Amino acid sequence: MMRLRHISFVVLAILYANTNVSGQEEDIYKTDPNILEDASLDPFSLIRKYGYPCEIHRVYTEDQYILEMHRVPHGRENTTQGPKPVVFLMHGLLSSSAEWVLMQPGKGLAYILAEAGYDVWMGNARGNTYSRLHVSLNTKFSAFWRFSWHEIGYYDLPAMIDYVIKETGIDKIHYVGFSQGTTVFWVMMSTRPEYNEKIVAMQALAPVAYIGNVRSPLIKALAPFTNSLETIFKILGTNEVLPNGKINELAGQSLCTEEAITQVLCTNLLFLICGFNEEQLNATMFPVVLGHTPAGASTRQLVHFGQLYKSGKFVQFDHGWLGNKRRYGSFKPPPYNLSAIRVPTFLHYADNDWLSTPKDVDKLAKEAPAVIGKYRAPLDKFNHLDFVFAIDAKKLIYDRIMNIMARFN
Ligand SMILES: *[C@@H]1O[C@H](CO)[C@@H](O)[C@H](O)[C@H]1NC(C)=O
Ligand SMILES: *[C@@H]1O[C@H](CO)[C@@H](O)[C@H](O)[C@H]1NC(C)=O
Repeated sequence: MMRLRHISFVVLAILYANTNVSGQEEDIYKTDPNILEDASLDPFSLIRKYGYPCEIHRVYTEDQYILEMHRVPHGRENTTQGPKPVVFLMHGLLSSSAEWVLMQPGKGLAYILAEAGYDVWMGNARGNTYSRLHVSLNTKFSAFWRFSWHEIGYYDLPAMIDYVIKETGIDKIHYVGFSQGTTVFWVMMSTRPEYNEKIVAMQALAPVAYIGNVRSPLIKALAPFTNSLETIFKILGTNEVLPNGKINELAGQSLCTEEAITQVLCTNLLFLICGFNEEQLNATMFPVVLGHTPAGASTRQLVHFGQLYKSGKFVQFDHGWLGNKRRYGSFKPPPYNLSAIRVPTFLHYADNDWLSTPKDVDKLAKEAPAVIGKYRAPLDKFNHLDFVFAIDAKKLIYDRIMNIMARFN
C-alpha cells in the first residue's frame, strides 16, 4: 500500500516537472485544484464529493479473501428508490472500482447508470488497492499473491454476485465487464455454470478471452519469457505487479516520444500495456487517472495472459506438465468451456484496440453460442482504455449499452 501510494506521488511529481518544462499544459493543472483532489480521493470519497450516495460493502470469498465493493444506490438527480434493476460492474487488469467514477458525473459509467435508474455495484478483485485483506494472510506473504484471474473468476465474482443478490433481494442482475472484467466472467460461467441463472445479460467492453492477435508492444516484448516463471517474476518483482525501471526500459523505446504528456503516460504500466488515444483522452484528467492506476495485480495474472498470448488458446494456468498432471489430471491445462455461457452476451469492441483485437473478438463470438450481439465502436482510433476513459464514451458506447440493457428490464 505504502509503495503504491509512493509511486503514484512520484508519477504526479514527474507530471508537474514535465508540464513546467513544456509550459503549454501548465495552466490546466494549476487552475483546477479539484482535479488534484480527485487524484487522491478513494472511490467512496470521490463519489460523495460529486453529490452521489455511496456505500462500502465487505465481501468474504470461499478462500477467505476480503473484498471491498462500492455501491451507488441511486443518482443525484434521479433519486428513485425501491425495486429497481441492479447492475454489477467489474474493472480491468491493474485497475479498481475507481475506473467507473474517475471521469466526472455525465462521463463515468457508474454515474450514468445511476441516473438511468440502476442500483450500481462495483466489484474489486483480490490484490487491488481496495481488496488487500485476507482472514489469515497478508500482502507480505507470497501465499497471498498465489492467484491469477482464474481465482478472481472462480472465487471473487461468485462471492460478490451472491452478496449483491442477497442484499438487494433481486434474483438476477446485469453484468458489465471491461477487459479482464470480461475474462473473469467467462471463467466463472465455464467453471460454475449455475451462475447463468443469476445474470440478466452480459455487456462485454473490450472482451478478452483469446488474445493470440494482441498488438501491445509490451506483451509482445514479455512473451518470450512466459515459459520461465522465474524470469518473469524477477523482471516484475516478486509477487505483485508494479511499475519499475526494467519494464520501462523494455517497452520504452518503441512506444514513447519526447513529448511531456506522452512520457508521463509511458511510465505508467497500464498505458504501457494498453496504449492510448490522445484524441479521446482528456489531458486535464491525467492526474486523476494516474493517481488511481495501476491499482495492483498479482504477477500470475500477467503471466497467465502471457500464456494465452503464446498459445492462442483460452485455457487455465499452465503449471508445467508435471504440475498440470497433478492439478488437472492432464499434461496440458484444460480449456475454458465457452459453450457453458448461457447468459445473453453482447460484445463491444474497437478496431484500434491493441489487446482485444477484432480477430480475437470474432473467434470468441464464434465459439460462445451465447453471444447474440457484436458491436464495433464507431471511431477508427478507439483504443482499449477508451471504453472507460474516452471523452465521447457515452455517445459512442454507453448509450447503446443502456439501450440493450433496457430491453431486459
Ligand atoms: C476535460 O475535463 C475537464 C475537467 O473535468 C472538463 O472541464 C472538460 O470539459 C473536459 N474536456 C472535454 C473535451 O471533455
Ligand atoms: C461445455 O458446456 C456445455 C453446456 O453446458 C456442455 O454440454 C458440454 O458438455 C461442456 N463441454 C465440456 C468439454 O465440458
